[in-house]
Amino acid sequence: MSTLLEVKELVVRYGGIEAVKGINLHIHQGELVTLIGANGAGKTSTLNALAGLLKPASGEIRFEGELLNSSPIHQLIQRGLALVPEGRGVFPRLTVEENLAMGAYTRKDKPGMRADLNQVFESFPRLQERRQQKAGTLSGGEQQMLAIGRALMGRPKLLLLDEPSMGLAPLMVQTIFSVIQRVAKEGMTVFLVEQNARLALQSAQRAYVMEGGMIRFNASANECLSDPRVRLAYLGEDS
Ligand SMILES: Nc1ncnc2c1ncn2[C@@H]1O[C@H](COP(=O)(O)OP(=O)(O)O)[C@@H](O)[C@H]1O
Ligand SMILES: [Mg+2]
Repeated sequence: MSTLLEVKELVVRYGGIEAVKGINLHIHQGELVTLIGANGAGKTSTLNALAGLLKPASGEIRFEGELLNSSPIHQLIQRGLALVPEGRGVFPRLTVEENLAMGAYTRKDKPGMRADLNQVFESFPRLQERRQQKAGTLSGGEQQMLAIGRALMGRPKLLLLDEPSMGLAPLMVQTIFSVIQRVAKEGMTVFLVEQNARLALQSAQRAYVMEGGMIRFNASANECLSDPRVRLAYLGEDS
């Protein structure tokens, strides 16, 4: 298995606050890896540093062996990283179709883009029904679908997802997670940040557990599901 992403001693600071305190993690090609942890643990800060939105205070981020630290964001997209940020971040005044086209702006292969657009519409039929509608008028769940669809339109090598289940009705969460699981099965590498630990662990192969800016431990998703510490702190069980 080749390593797609390798993070060493990553530190993220906001002024005097150290949100990420020297973490190490790696993701192999083709894996679905999750990062779980309570609110404020440092998950978003980690992900935003990987996606180039935040400049690390120190540490190394390597993608396909190459150092990424402080590469401009358009370069990261071209290299194959796509982030679906917390709170979605679709372009509200653009239509569904226009948002999806924005996700593919670095691509030149028209037939591949058409195929991916069909695939997105197949995954999320609601988006197809609303293809001419302005993104700002969609429901929260539909906007999350659109944000994921837009990321997929770039055919990323690594898909970074920040709490895709947040604030969504259970049925919507199911739809979104089944698409995440399918793209992973088809070979896309996925790094999934979630507060919904049960769902994340049921979807992923491996997991990192983050607390107070540090990785407390990492294990296979199955091990985590049966680990007493995880069950107690993250799955709401007492054994
Ligand atoms: N823009 C910011 N400015 C100052 N502190 C921040 C900022 N964003 C996050 N933090 C702090 O960093 C810590 C980690 O936050 P975050 O990465 O958002 O955690 P999570 O995504 O796990 O909920 C928290 O203590 C939070 O208050
Ligand atoms: Mg967060």
